[in-house]
Amino acid sequence: MGAKVTVVGAGFYGSTTALRLAEFDVFDTVVLTDIVEGKPEGLALDMNQSRSIEGFETKVIGATTTAEGAGYEATANSDVVVITAGLPRKPGMSRMDLIGVNAGIVRGVAENIAKHSPNAVIIVVSNPLDEMTALAQLATGFPKHRVMGQAGMLDTARFTNFVAEKLAVKVGAVKTLTLGSHGDTMVPVPSRCTVNGKALSELLSQTEIDELVDRTRNGGAEVVALLKTGSAYYAPSAAAARMAKAVIEDSGAVMPVCAWVDGEYGITGVYLGVEAEIGRNGIKKVVESALTDSELSALKAAAEAVRAKQADVQTL
Ligand code: NAI
Ligand code: 2OP
Repeated sequence: MGAKVTVVGAGFYGSTTALRLAEFDVFDTVVLTDIVEGKPEGLALDMNQSRSIEGFETKVIGATTTAEGAGYEATANSDVVVITAGLPRKPGMSRMDLIGVNAGIVRGVAENIAKHSPNAVIIVVSNPLDEMTALAQLATGFPKHRVMGQAGMLDTARFTNFVAEKLAVKVGAVKTLTLGSHGDTMVPVPSRCTVNGKALSELLSQTEIDELVDRTRNGGAEVVALLKTGSAYYAPSAAAARMAKAVIEDSGAVMPVCAWVDGEYGITGVYLGVEAEIGRNGIKKVVESALTDSELSALKAAAEAVRAKQADVQTL
């Protein structure tokens, strides 16, 4: 049987992710679900009608589900599931303001997914990301390597874009890295940033680097403030779709993702943004990089901040 991926939630993030996944043309089927009746079916119909123009054979199937689990048969035996269900931020809100309502949604979705796709790799994107990833693992009972979250790919891509714009160079010339949480304790890692192989510190002053780091940390809020309703989805969906592709192709690509950390960097027992090798069973291994002392202490501080919140989600 061919590969199958399900995207739960047919809002801005979910629908753009489903289209990107279909356009890769590496899955047989992309299933898109939502609790709004007819929305996933309508979007799937529309996406399928683009197949002959874009030149992909992947079939998109839309399925209305209920919070109680009706309709989940359409998702059965998915190899990968991307969970985007949940509310996005409004201007002035932090991602953490979403925790109560999104925890209820993500827990229900995760339980239904575990029932119908017991062998799936799960990629969580609902916010607050680090906490919702921990909750999805708890609610599914899946091994920790089969549940990961998307944040680092996006935050790193934002950092890369800001550096490329600042120095007026191609994005392809820039390498950056962002670790830590997808929130206030995000850890952009300037010591790992290069432009055409040259250290960022040789090209920009410390003040200029600090400005780019701050802009990266506030990258999501900057888009929310401009959109006024809803949050970013083009760069976020590109990130989640690439992770799902890496899983199904068993690529072994090293990507910044939210993964279970158990000893690396001296941090134990928490979902946190780190670099990891991605394969058919999810996280193959967490990859440690050399960090400066201050970057390492910022990563440890991020771990303690998200650890406290991840303990809270057990009761939500
Ligand atoms: P949206 O409001 O456009 O879509 C959310 C969709 O989820 C809606 O269509 C809604 O009907 C659906 N939904 C709600 N409960 C559901 C359930 N039980 N089952 C299935 N579907 C359900 O929001 P958008 O922009 O798509 O964002 C989705 C989530 O992704 C938000 O929590 C947002 O904060 C988060 N996000 C995370 C990012 C990251 O880097 N991790 C980046 C951008 C957004
Ligand atoms: C973002 O970073 C809101 O988490 C979302 O765009």
